[in-house]
Amino acid sequence: MIRIERISKAFGGLQAVRDVSLDVEPGSITGLIGPNGAGKSTLFNIIAGLIPADTGRIYLEGQDITGRRPHRLFHQGLVRTFQVPHEFARMTVRENLMVVPPAQAGENLLQSWFRWEKVRRQESAVRDRAEDVLEFLSLDHLADERAANLSGGQKKLLDLGRTMMTDARAVLLDEPGAGVNRTLLGKISDAIQRLNRERGYTFFLIEHDMDLIAKLCNPVHVMANGGLIASGPMAEIRQNEEVREAYLGGGVSATMGASE
Ligand SMILES: Nc1ncnc2c1ncn2[C@@H]1O[C@H](COP(=O)(O)OP(=O)(O)O)[C@@H](O)[C@H]1O
Ligand SMILES: [Mg+2]
Repeated sequence: MIRIERISKAFGGLQAVRDVSLDVEPGSITGLIGPNGAGKSTLFNIIAGLIPADTGRIYLEGQDITGRRPHRLFHQGLVRTFQVPHEFARMTVRENLMVVPPAQAGENLLQSWFRWEKVRRQESAVRDRAEDVLEFLSLDHLADERAANLSGGQKKLLDLGRTMMTDARAVLLDEPGAGVNRTLLGKISDAIQRLNRERGYTFFLIEHDMDLIAKLCNPVHVMANGGLIASGPMAEIRQNEEVREAYLGGGVSATMGASE
């Protein structure tokens, strides 16, 4: 689905990503872990077209998308959500879903005039789809709530919901579990699993919660100091000596979780 080929990126003298190659298989929930500063978010930002790589190529379903801007990737079904969700705070939850443009509408600017008319006609279809998403994510009781009033975890669910309003096929998630309470974390991971199984979404996700990674992801890739140091099922990753050392050197917040 996504092929990352020898990507490198430096910020000044700091090599944030060094020569990383990996594949995100279609239909997988692929994990990316590593201590803080490992280069995970930088790699995501490169895939998502937010920053350019110094070297290397990115392919989406065989097509070279290196350096392609986020809105173009969006139309090709590649969507990313953010570590800090940036919903439209003053709009309601339902409105936040309804303003997401359908990815299949095309990106030709000349079409946008006609699209208005089309969008108006499609509004009830969009509304139906939003209701579907609200139900799928158990957010229906919050449909008329302003997004600003949601908890951090509910905002993440909403962010995930917005990807469901598109025809996303590949979703990049940067720390969906960060700052989320246990109950909502369960909901978010259920939603990811169901989107993967029932709707065929491919996920590539960064997460610090090792239990979440173990539950959802296979394979898991590990970065440290910008480089890829291990790949495989989480059970193997947990036994990997180099990975353990990378985490021990990574400081207090980094831990491999329950392993023995
Ligand atoms: N825009 C930037 N400018 C300068 N340095 C950056 C920038 N983004 C990230 N870095 C640095 O690159 C390294 C990797 O960061 P990041 O990709 O955010 O790591 P991770 O997501 O794994 O914690 C860090 O040392 C970070 O300080
Ligand atoms: Mg990060």
